[in-house]
Amino acid sequence: MEVQIAVLDYGSQYSQLIVRRVRELGYHAKLYPPHVLKDLSGLAGVILSGGPNSVSDPDSPDVDFEVLEALDVPVLGVCYGMQLLNKKLGGDLKPSFTSEYGPARLCIENDDHLFEGITNDSQVWMSHSDTVSQLPPGAQILARNEDGIPVALQFREGWFGIQFHPEVTHSHEGRGILKNFLRQLDADPGFDVEAFKREVIREIIAEVGDREVVCGVSGGVDSTVLAVLLHEAGVKVHPIFVDTGMLRKGEAVEVQKQFAEVGVEIETVFAEKRFLDALKGETDPEAKRKIIGNLFLDVFFDHAGTVELFAQGTLYPDVIESATSGSIASVIKTHHNRVNRIMELKKEGRVLEPLSELFKDEVRALGTSLGIPAYALNRHPFPGPGLAVRCPGEVTKEKLDILREADHIFISTLRKHGWYDKIWQACTTLLSSKSVGVKGDVRAYEYPVSLRAVISEDAMTADWVEIPFPVLREISNKILNGVRGVNRVLYDISTKPPASIEWE
Ligand code: XMP
Repeated sequence: MEVQIAVLDYGSQYSQLIVRRVRELGYHAKLYPPHVLKDLSGLAGVILSGGPNSVSDPDSPDVDFEVLEALDVPVLGVCYGMQLLNKKLGGDLKPSFTSEYGPARLCIENDDHLFEGITNDSQVWMSHSDTVSQLPPGAQILARNEDGIPVALQFREGWFGIQFHPEVTHSHEGRGILKNFLRQLDADPGFDVEAFKREVIREIIAEVGDREVVCGVSGGVDSTVLAVLLHEAGVKVHPIFVDTGMLRKGEAVEVQKQFAEVGVEIETVFAEKRFLDALKGETDPEAKRKIIGNLFLDVFFDHAGTVELFAQGTLYPDVIESATSGSIASVIKTHHNRVNRIMELKKEGRVLEPLSELFKDEVRALGTSLGIPAYALNRHPFPGPGLAVRCPGEVTKEKLDILREADHIFISTLRKHGWYDKIWQACTTLLSSKSVGVKGDVRAYEYPVSLRAVISEDAMTADWVEIPFPVLREISNKILNGVRGVNRVLYDISTKPPASIEWE
């Protein structure tokens, strides 16, 4: 499927959200490091993302301006992207007196193009520290903020710049503004899940040939969709489910049931002892992730014999967040599917990642189109390294067993009250520092657990959920009375950023 919109990534945490929004509007978009623009063809438009730099810094990232002009397609610069275009076209910038982060009002002066049908005075979301001080020749101001500062420009026909982030939901009419930009393209929308499915199945068949694909399944949305997709493609597939001992209560049985329902046979490998032994004494979060990722592969190799091709359900955000796509965004965590071993296999052309262009909700849509039942697709995300990342400090069987019980109470009580489906992800973390309490007149020096429930669109940002106090009270009472080893229950009220969803 041909990419229609290149989003050049200048390092904003929101860059991939732009891609997502454009796809939601039906156009096939992908994120690229700016320097690859010269290698792209067939584009219908280009968007330059925001970024943390100032265009005035001598080593700030640039754009290949001649290539951009030669494409002769509509261009939108967002935040840093707008400032870069402004400078390139002969305008100038100055540092703002105050950095502007957060909500601003959109005061529209010209609604011919980007702002057609957009409400004057609607909220937009700013995040910048430079301001346009001089317009390039021929440019015009389309909108200002409430302080009179230009926040949207038309540089020339089809070329626009906006100082705010239309891709975040805090820009209330951001979607409409992006839609107006996309209307300028000389192309019809070309992205939909059915078309993607047909194409990806064709690609799988071509790439796999008669080789056998070993495929890791966890029961989560991504690997379930992956296994069913491979099954549907009719290639030889050997799905292996590793019970690492880091799974939630009853999860192994549930996963087996789930695959039986969709008609895919899986092999289960019990490897709890190997994982616990490997993690013994390790307390560093990144080291724990690496150990688990590598051991996961060892277990695969041990059980699959010769692995001709290894398939995994890596998603687009994993690719971007681990900064392996050449993106400027920094490595935040080592995702378990990007450890060195996988990268080595990749170099040998032995890794198949058919979902690596998709966002989570697109994978769910693909799953629906493959006939996977809703309950399997609507399960909360669960990290590859499992409960190990919810057990700060050393991971032990004792701690995992306590955590499993507490988590089971949390999740089942949310389900009972109809909250599970309203929440994007709920998780329990067993904190490593014990606290003093009293149980049955006796001093109890036990673990605290922290409950976290968030809503999110794609895990890039998240907000905590206002679960009603009576439900929290019920969960807390059940945990304190029913889980040996826990004497304190906390509810995490941190947004992401700055807190990530998982503790490690
Ligand atoms: P954070 O903690 O970074 O998590 O806010 C964002 C989302 O990613 C999940 N997560 C992972 N998923 N492998 C995965 O497959 C991993 O190593 C991993 N680490 C975090 C996390 O549960 C949340 O949904």
